Amino acid sequence: MSARTLTFEIFRYDPFDPEDKPTTQQYQLEEAPGMTVFVALKLIRETQDPSLQFDFVCRAGICGSCAMVINGKPTLACRTLTSQYEGGTIKLMPLPGFELIGDLSVNTGKFMRSLSERVGAWLHREKEHNIDAMEQKMDPHLAESIYETDRCIECGCCVAGCATAQMRETFLGAVGFNKVARFALDDRDHRSVDDFYHIIGDEDGVFGCMTLLGCADNCPKDLNHQAQIGYLRRKLALHPRIL
Ligand code: SF4
Ligand code: SF4
Ligand code: FES
Repeated sequence: MSARTLTFEIFRYDPFDPEDKPTTQQYQLEEAPGMTVFVALKLIRETQDPSLQFDFVCRAGICGSCAMVINGKPTLACRTLTSQYEGGTIKLMPLPGFELIGDLSVNTGKFMRSLSERVGAWLHREKEHNIDAMEQKMDPHLAESIYETDRCIECGCCVAGCATAQMRETFLGAVGFNKVARFALDDRDHRSVDDFYHIIGDEDGVFGCMTLLGCADNCPKDLNHQAQIGYLRRKLALHPRIL
């Protein structure tokens, strides 16, 4: 059977060029067995259009750089097979909710850095860390729960798939809740429930979340957002000083 020809309809725009206007550009490419959207984009850039902008680092679903909207769904280009699109037409858009660098490339790094600073995404300890001290033991179940939250690759698909985050740019979103849950779970972090309440206890935090779980539907690492949002809400709402 001869290979089919794929049609790519790709968003093109350079926000730094005042003369430029957003357009959709069409490219055609012969499909190869096991081809991913990332491989197709790389071929298009190498053989047809060196000006096409998109991001990648690992090509293995680990770095989160290649996230984009593929036929309406935010996901990773390097983990998406072209064969799943029966019609052979693939429409690519940049992730909404992030600063556009150009074409399919967005600045998720800037977003994630400011999010980490906003929620204080590092261990807060009362005492200075002693690097000569023995390793501290941790309950294996707790370690597993923390590891589960640490699987986030900061791709931004949950933000792109969240209607609340798209309507209100101050809304923290699921990646932020996941970061807070990671440190709220960790008994080495000395922040109190009140401290976490001040970070996420309002409508820009967990109480503004509509729980329709677009975040979970679009998370390529299948993180359990429902469990994290529920955990944070219970932790804050049942705290005696808040009631
Ligand atoms: S449950 Fe809905 S509103 Fe809440 S973070 Fe997920 S997508 Fe956004
Ligand atoms: S929670 Fe999932 S969708 Fe959101 S940034 Fe992390 S890996 Fe990506
Ligand atoms: S290139 Fe790293 S996740 Fe796709």
